[in-house]
Amino acid sequence: MIYLDNAATTFPKPESVYTSMDECMRTYCANPGRSGHKMAIESARAVEDSRSLVAKLFNIDNPMNVVFTFNATDSLNLAIKGFLNPGDHVITTTMEHNSVLRPIMELEKIGVEHTFVQADTEGFVNPKDIESSIKENTTLIVTTHASNVVGTLVDIKEIGEIAKKHNIKYLIDASQSAGIYDIDVKAINANMIALPGHKGLLGPQGTGILYVEDEIRLRSQREGGTGSQSEEIVQPDLYPDKYESGTHNTPGIVGLGAGVEFILSTGIDKIREHEEYLSQYMIDEFLKIPGVKLYGPKDSKKRAAVIAININDVDSGEISFRLNSEFDIATRSGIHCAPLAHKSIGTLEQGAVRFSLGFFNTKEDVDKAIEALKKISSDYVK
Ligand code: ALA
Repeated sequence: MIYLDNAATTFPKPESVYTSMDECMRTYCANPGRSGHKMAIESARAVEDSRSLVAKLFNIDNPMNVVFTFNATDSLNLAIKGFLNPGDHVITTTMEHNSVLRPIMELEKIGVEHTFVQADTEGFVNPKDIESSIKENTTLIVTTHASNVVGTLVDIKEIGEIAKKHNIKYLIDASQSAGIYDIDVKAINANMIALPGHKGLLGPQGTGILYVEDEIRLRSQREGGTGSQSEEIVQPDLYPDKYESGTHNTPGIVGLGAGVEFILSTGIDKIREHEEYLSQYMIDEFLKIPGVKLYGPKDSKKRAAVIAININDVDSGEISFRLNSEFDIATRSGIHCAPLAHKSIGTLEQGAVRFSLGFFNTKEDVDKAIEALKKISSDYVK
């Protein structure tokens, strides 16, 4: 299969991800941070090695500020629900995934106010619109770094500066950008960053990360055993233990560490440049196909390698179905769990066919997608 659904999860993973997880499962996977025997110590060391690698990739001084979660949705729920209180106001954008919108809508029930800043039809958010939405009770700004529908990049640096100027915390959803774009927590004013382990970071599903700066003390969303302060019946107030109750996904975290190691040794610039090259080629060739409507910016430097299209008014599910069944090409159609993003670009009814590229895709993969789309389009555009 030609896998062009990397925005949902990357496939394949680097070989070292498979081998490190297999080795962990077969040779030392005891419960990390609990018992004091050799295998438990080896497991704990492996988890902490992965934590340090993540810290290195994002230029985080203290690896203890890296909290392992189970996916980006888990990270966003912890950040949003753990931070906001009744009476607070949160600003976010119409380009967000439901993993941001739904926790915020849930908090509306307990008196948390929100503003959804409108993006334009290419998915761009004007940071000035964020600034003008700030109210006296605004405590948090949440934005994606790259749209999961059209890939449009958000100016996280400028928004970070706005947040800092107004003494408001800034949470970035880097689900579509981590591992591809250089995100340096010291260079951008990001107080929290939510990350999936299984997308650009090239780890397995069931892994996620929340970076939280020291100053923020989130309410935990799950309490239980942490292996630390076991004599206490209240949750320890320690990073990262406070947020990592229960036995964690040790093999997954080991695989995530191997994914991050692969990125560090390959070079993030090389990864991004390859994806930019492939997406520019795909965009340019798709635009030549009769009937193709392509959403978002046409310049690959202004977007992640997430390319949404339609053919005339044909249902997006039908095109995706044909790509899969007739051409063995994996894409995702529909609304991509981002209804306000689709509303912003005008595709809430039709949805869109999303091609998303990864580091392991080749020009030949893109050529096959172009040929397939040409054939499909010729059936609808006479
Ligand atoms: N959030 C993932 C996507 O956009 C699953 O497909």
